[in-house]
Amino acid sequence: MGRIAKETIDELTNRLDAVAVVGDYVKLEKKSGRWWGRCPFHNEKTPSFTVDPDRKTYYCFGCHEGGSVINFVMEMDKLSFPETVRLLAKRFGVPIIQDDSGVPVNTSEIDRKKDDLGELYRRVAGSFSYILTETQEGKAALDYVRGRGVSDELIHRFRLGYATADPFWLYQFLIEKGYSAPFLAESGLFTKANPRRALFSGRLIFPIADRQGRIAAFGGRILAGDGPKYLNSPESLIYKKRDTLFALDLAMNEIRNKKEVIVTEGYMDVIALHEAGICNAVAPLGTAFTIEQARLLARWADRIKLLFDNDAAGQAAAVKAILTCRSAAAQAFVIKPSDLAEFKDPADILKDRGAGYLQEFVKNSILDFEYLLAENRRSPDDSDAMRKAKAVASLFPFLDLIGSEVEREAYFGRIAEAFGTGTQSVLYDYKVWQNGGYSVQKTEAVVRRSINMTDELFPLTAAAVNCEANPYLFAKLRSAIPIEEFTDIYAKELYVTLEECNRAGNMSFEALINGVVTGELKQFVVEKAATREFSEKPEHIVADSIIKLKAKNLMRKRNELVLKMRSAKNNGASVEDLMHEKMFIDAELQNLKGVNR
Ligand code: CTP
Ligand code: MN
Repeated sequence: MGRIAKETIDELTNRLDAVAVVGDYVKLEKKSGRWWGRCPFHNEKTPSFTVDPDRKTYYCFGCHEGGSVINFVMEMDKLSFPETVRLLAKRFGVPIIQDDSGVPVNTSEIDRKKDDLGELYRRVAGSFSYILTETQEGKAALDYVRGRGVSDELIHRFRLGYATADPFWLYQFLIEKGYSAPFLAESGLFTKANPRRALFSGRLIFPIADRQGRIAAFGGRILAGDGPKYLNSPESLIYKKRDTLFALDLAMNEIRNKKEVIVTEGYMDVIALHEAGICNAVAPLGTAFTIEQARLLARWADRIKLLFDNDAAGQAAAVKAILTCRSAAAQAFVIKPSDLAEFKDPADILKDRGAGYLQEFVKNSILDFEYLLAENRRSPDDSDAMRKAKAVASLFPFLDLIGSEVEREAYFGRIAEAFGTGTQSVLYDYKVWQNGGYSVQKTEAVVRRSINMTDELFPLTAAAVNCEANPYLFAKLRSAIPIEEFTDIYAKELYVTLEECNRAGNMSFEALINGVVTGELKQFVVEKAATREFSEKPEHIVADSIIKLKAKNLMRKRNELVLKMRSAKNNGASVEDLMHEKMFIDAELQNLKGVNR
């Protein structure tokens, strides 16, 4: 299947009715020239979500989600870009034109490779599943999972499988099916040392799927013999660990319905929870819970509940995960045994105590802050003042991530109360710590990246926001200042993107937004379009900025020249040429001032 031609996407953007499309998901109301609704990406009572029918974009003033209507449908229906275009094209009667010519070869090649890999993993998963459930060879593995309390329905739902004990079987099998040796060598299914030797053999297989349920990798648990307990597929074109969560495809609906997600440590824990009817459970993939994963979950869930192993490692992981959640502006809860129970993890609970107990168990959650407080209060030796100070200080990294001053202040009070000290003292120590005064290390707090407006970004934002109505703004800018004169990375990216749109003869806002690759920049531009800060007299903004930037660049050159002249004088070289150049620059600066007046 070829790629969808650009003309099709442009035509679709032209024809689609943004209010009708978004209106299928969000109830919209027209108020003072704009369409408003309650944002589907975060929980809110008063509408701050808007649709711009002319630009065909959406933007939420509350959570700052924004993008094209195509992006919106992708997000809501968990579809890929081409899938969404096809869907909408059908609805608005736009004929799909396939195009193999105008597209850079490497992009379509990567897409094809992804498709091929996806197809391979699907097929291999099918074979593994067949071996587990239908053959004698899989019998022992099947008994093992069933023995851990996993029903046949769940074995099927999670597409569990068994990789044959013979490590050379898979290669032979796939070659016979017509796959090429070089393709298989790159597939991540075989060892690097011997490309015919399967990575997984004699293991219980847990397929790892993307959000759409397409299998992208495997985890394999050892059943007998020596070796690591789990093996996992390497990262590939279709599998990025930090963006993927085990079982997200199966948990998505429930997460959305409950606005809540349970994050556990392992594959078996997730399966145990789903087995008990708790279907909003997911897990990271053997790595720590990442900020990307937290952000992804925070889109649908108001509450991220952490259910980690009942041991020291699990507790440390929980503390880190709390900070990760807060970095993603999500509130976390910790599910904790109320008594000192002897089980290790949810899989154990299911097996030893049954589904009912597990259901009750997950209800015992406490707020992230309360969890941290309790963890640090565990040795209440109030006579040791220094330890007390240290225990209080270990809460500072958490406080550092709190967005709201009101919320933070409430925590100062709670800490003071819990440790039997004054709020002012806690506050004072916190300020000292913030300035680097204490030895407790600041965690690599992953602060949400935000863009600062700069002199350079200013005119480019004006040109970008108005590119459709007034493409001349960018034309003017580019003829006045070449891209080399820009240093701000975001200004540069907008310049390049506008240039590309200009060259492609499509200055629609949609095309521009689709061309911006940096997430925060895209958000920034959509936001500026929505706030209409740049809608008033953008020509003036651009004209003024051109003068300002030109002057700034001339001043820089002048300063460089002055430095050169000094060193030239010192080593006796001729300064005449430099003088000329400087006079020229001074004249230009004079000119600019004239224009300015
Ligand atoms: N893990 C891994 N490699 C290992 C051990 C663990 O990748 N050698 C990852 C797996 O994703 C695993 C998770 O860490 O699911 C949690 O580890 P653990 O608690 O040991 O595994 P469980 O899923 O609980 O498996 P089981 O109950 O079968 O021991
Ligand atoms: Mn475990």
